[in-house]
Amino acid sequence: MESNQYGHVTVLLAEAVEALGVEADGLYIDGTFGRGGHSAEILKALGPQGRLLGIDKDPRARRTAMERFSGDDRFLFRQGSFADMASFVAELQWPGVDGVLLDLGVSSPQLDEAERGFSFMQDGPLDMRMDPDSGQSASEWVNTAKEEEISKVLWDLGEERFARRMAKAIVAARQTQPITRTLQLAEIVAAANPRWEKGKNPATRAFQAIRIYINRELDDLAQGLEQAFGVLKPGGRLTVISFHSLEDRMVKQYMRDIVRGPKTPKWLPVVDDAPPKAKLVGKKIRAGETELAANVRARSAVMRVLEKC
Ligand SMILES: C[S@@+](CC[C@H](N)C(=O)[O-])C[C@H]1O[C@@H](n2cnc3c(N)ncnc32)[C@H](O)[C@@H]1O
Repeated sequence: MESNQYGHVTVLLAEAVEALGVEADGLYIDGTFGRGGHSAEILKALGPQGRLLGIDKDPRARRTAMERFSGDDRFLFRQGSFADMASFVAELQWPGVDGVLLDLGVSSPQLDEAERGFSFMQDGPLDMRMDPDSGQSASEWVNTAKEEEISKVLWDLGEERFARRMAKAIVAARQTQPITRTLQLAEIVAAANPRWEKGKNPATRAFQAIRIYINRELDDLAQGLEQAFGVLKPGGRLTVISFHSLEDRMVKQYMRDIVRGPKTPKWLPVVDDAPPKAKLVGKKIRAGETELAANVRARSAVMRVLEKC
């Protein structure tokens, strides 16, 4: 397993790149470049005519991309969302791509660097944006959103059963003092959580929910899946690694719907002559024992692969 000097241990490294079935002269997209672990492996399999486009919202990912691969003509990088990958492909005048990889969520450096404001373990400014130059920070949101909206986000995106209590506590606390630090929020939320689960920080679900909301992660995923499928050539593959059930449910549903085609109303006779648009490649894949022993992040990873027909 690669534990690179860029501070992120890539999950399902060999499995994801193998699933893409990289061809030497193919065109590929790593939609979640992060610190370039998967990209490095894809580049190893590409020949001189092959090309890889790395995309990431995070300006630090851009910096790593420049450091690691600026001397490699086969590699290009765009800072932005994978939800906009079709426009990047159009701008590059690529006729279509042979494979897209999405390794969802946040990278270890994003979580570990206190000043990014994702962590409930270390104190930092309450930010949580993958791209700190765009959109609303977590602090701006928790200080202005309505109590019902906060409660809904914690419930829907964190599956947090004490969402209402936590939202109430956040709104009460901000009347005394704005909430600007990660540990300040973690303490407010923890105090409103009456049942601490063993081995889990009581703010885990709330932080996850706010992060997903601030970064529009589920909206981006829905749009990113559509765009990825749209830019694939026939025979091209989409490989998605997700880290929590909401994402995996979306990926599974999306892939299933494409493979099965549009639902026909029950009262219509089934006409089975439409050619399939895609097929699933294998079953969902999880990390093996060796990887699990070395990387706790791999515990929740689920990978699914789709091939366009
Ligand atoms: C789990 S990390 C990827 C790690 C990478 N595979 C590696 O080996 O280094 C996820 C990365 O995706 C980025 N990201 C998440 N959602 C994104 C989106 N909608 N568009 C672009 N990048 C996104 C995050 O900023 C983060 O850097």
